[in-house]
Amino acid sequence: MSGLEQAQQEYSEDFCSFLEIAYGPGFLSEGGSEAIDNLVKDFQLANKKILDIGSGLGGAAIHFAKKYNAIITGIEINQMMVDESNHRLPENLKNKVKFLFYDDIEHLPFKDKFFDLAFSKEVFLHLDLEDKLILFKEIYRVLKEDSHFIILDWLSPVNGHWGEKLVEMMRLDDLTLFANTEEDYKNIIHQAGFKLVSIDSEDENYARYNKEIIKHLQKDDIQKKLKRKYTNKEIEDNIHAYNLLYQSLKEKELLIRKIICRK
Ligand SMILES: C[S@@+](CC[C@H](N)C(=O)[O-])C[C@H]1O[C@@H](n2cnc3c(N)ncnc32)[C@H](O)[C@@H]1O
Repeated sequence: MSGLEQAQQEYSEDFCSFLEIAYGPGFLSEGGSEAIDNLVKDFQLANKKILDIGSGLGGAAIHFAKKYNAIITGIEINQMMVDESNHRLPENLKNKVKFLFYDDIEHLPFKDKFFDLAFSKEVFLHLDLEDKLILFKEIYRVLKEDSHFIILDWLSPVNGHWGEKLVEMMRLDDLTLFANTEEDYKNIIHQAGFKLVSIDSEDENYARYNKEIIKHLQKDDIQKKLKRKYTNKEIEDNIHAYNLLYQSLKEKELLIRKIICRK
């Protein structure tokens, strides 16, 4: 099975609803709007055309449109997420935000130099290095000259290998994640034609987010909500998975990096 097919299967509706309870409506990754604002803090977004690769349930795209008055296209390999994001899109944002399905990383459905900015949060961990490079080349193609590509991703200190806590977390969540290093990233950024602007550690912020998520999931009202849909074992396993993530971050088995590149 390709990485793309695997990622399509792994994000079931049940898994996505659990993630939304953990992260907040529209988000399938940590940190909510605080984490999104942090990623774009050095950029002017008003009236800019942004491509959100792996837009999930649309949280970031809607935030960009509402708070920054940007124009967003979110692309996803998961049809359910595209339908759900379009369904949830408020009427007054329909002229600014759209969500599209795609399943060919070699051909993004846009013309050359169309976007002012590309953004992707916690998506490329689902692609092996070869597929990352293919997609990065396409992202390069659809970006205007001198424009930026902002990435937030999970990296490993060791190529092709995760620490044992992260391996256990992937088993519990039934996820396949690819372990690439900063060096790997630097190579493919360069090979795709981009210039690397910066790589910054977000480990501390993400350790904090994960700790907050564990507390949130243990609250009485949230436990009640979860128990309506999930078994006790599923809930415990998920909370344990967040603990493993927290420990992996503290012990530097998992590196969360904000990476900025320029065309
Ligand atoms: C952890 S979720 C993050 C979603 C969203 N960026 C967010 O922060 O809420 C990872 C997402 O990546 C998507 N994904 C996996 N491989 C992809 C690919 N090749 N292109 C676009 N999206 C992909 C999955 O369908 C999933 O929605």
